[in-house]
Amino acid sequence: MQDRKHTPVKELLASTEVDLEVTVKGWVRTKRGNAFVQFIALNDGSTINNIQVVADMKIFSEEDLKQFTTGAAVGVAGTLVKSTGAGQTVEIQATQVFVYGVADPEKFPLQPKKHSLEFLREIAHLRFRTSTFSAVFRIRHALTFAIHKFFNDRGFYNIHSPIITGSDAEGAGEMFRVTLLNAKNPPLKEDGTVDYSQDFFGKETNLTVSGQLEAELGALALSKVYTFGPTFRAENSNTSRHLAEFWMIEPEVAFADINDNMTLAQDMLVSVVKYILENCEDDLKFLSGRLLDEEKSKPEAERSPLELIEKLKFVTENDFVRLTYTEAIEILRESKPNKKKQFNYLINEWGADLQSEHERFLVEKHFKKPVILYNYPAAIKAFYMKQNDDGKTVAAMDILFPGIGEIVGGSQREEVYEKLHRRITEVGIEEKSLWWYLETRQFGTVPHAGFGLGFERLMMFVTGMTNIRDVIPFPRFPKNAEF
Ligand code: 4AD
Ligand code: MG
Repeated sequence: MQDRKHTPVKELLASTEVDLEVTVKGWVRTKRGNAFVQFIALNDGSTINNIQVVADMKIFSEEDLKQFTTGAAVGVAGTLVKSTGAGQTVEIQATQVFVYGVADPEKFPLQPKKHSLEFLREIAHLRFRTSTFSAVFRIRHALTFAIHKFFNDRGFYNIHSPIITGSDAEGAGEMFRVTLLNAKNPPLKEDGTVDYSQDFFGKETNLTVSGQLEAELGALALSKVYTFGPTFRAENSNTSRHLAEFWMIEPEVAFADINDNMTLAQDMLVSVVKYILENCEDDLKFLSGRLLDEEKSKPEAERSPLELIEKLKFVTENDFVRLTYTEAIEILRESKPNKKKQFNYLINEWGADLQSEHERFLVEKHFKKPVILYNYPAAIKAFYMKQNDDGKTVAAMDILFPGIGEIVGGSQREEVYEKLHRRITEVGIEEKSLWWYLETRQFGTVPHAGFGLGFERLMMFVTGMTNIRDVIPFPRFPKNAEF
């Protein structure tokens, strides 16, 4: 059995031919039956669907199948036949079985019943074996592929930005330090502060919060580039939408402005969601059913009016609303939850930072569509954004999605050396830490724009999973770095 070539379950289930001699290898999901015949549901992760193995107990002894318990890794050889049972078109009449690895039913934590997502998070080393997580991670792969395909089809080049850096691209100071200095007894400078010149890189370094600054350098030569890499934020937000380690896609385009940027982001989102609708039907159907079940336990008012697949189609078939920050503030100020003081953060004046409750109000209650907000107050946005002529806003844009809030954040970049330099000084960034970034504004600078898509936020939207910790294999969040 071990040296026999096997066929993925997905291929067998799609077979239009029958009476073939086949071999499958996978993990037992369930076994049921009686003294005459046993039915084994086998899954190898190639599809959400199991293949049914029929074991005629005239051929096999009880002993042969004793170790075929939930979770055991097995191989089965037999004949692929038309199934007379409901739920599948083909099944395997077994002639030979083999156990690769047992799973003691007394100890194996996954049983064929519903487990809570919280429990499964604690056994993330095994949760791939569940229908829910195998569906989520197959979709994660498909979504990764769809994103690369979208950019490749449009002539973008993928560049790999560094993970260890000396800069704080977002200027929010939420960075994980990378150091080899002795934590107990670091070398100190005369003024008592740590002397990082003696550290591995000869300077203070951290895990990157964004690959944008490096992507900009690439765009100023290759015209259209994108990064797709891990990013790290040490913000202590223990929410269902934040991770300390998450993946970001950051396209950057030369000779482009904020409007081109909004159009690119919308095209990308529509294109990749369409790809998933067209290529992940079985997994989506399963996840849609899962979500409907979950929603049943919620109060009626909090339930989503659309089922998962309808929700995805809604995004691909409707234009996103574009509106300025200033217009959004007007709507929010006049909104019912603001007037009735139901928001935790009331919107009183222009300049207020928008909280997720405001973003969700705009998307879910007011427009009921994805919304692109643009031209934000400079004071609440990063230093690199293009300064608008009004002297108070920058050409920033955020895309807000139903159920998620902010999924994309981006902007046109300030390409004028003097303006960028002034802003860097104003916000107190050390000029010498960004000399290379500033220098690009002196040598062949051009208007350019880009954005960052939070990959796991998009995954939440596409899979209908409501906690970001359930769309990345091994989530990193405060007080958790297991696995
Ligand atoms: O809005 P952000 O901070 O933008 C940037 O980092 C820019 N440098 C992007 C660019 O213009 N190239 O982050 C971009 C997106 C957010 O919209 C959100 O979807 C996601 O990254 N994100 C997070 N996702 C999970 N966990 C976190 N802690 C996240 N922080 C941001
Ligand atoms: Mg943002």
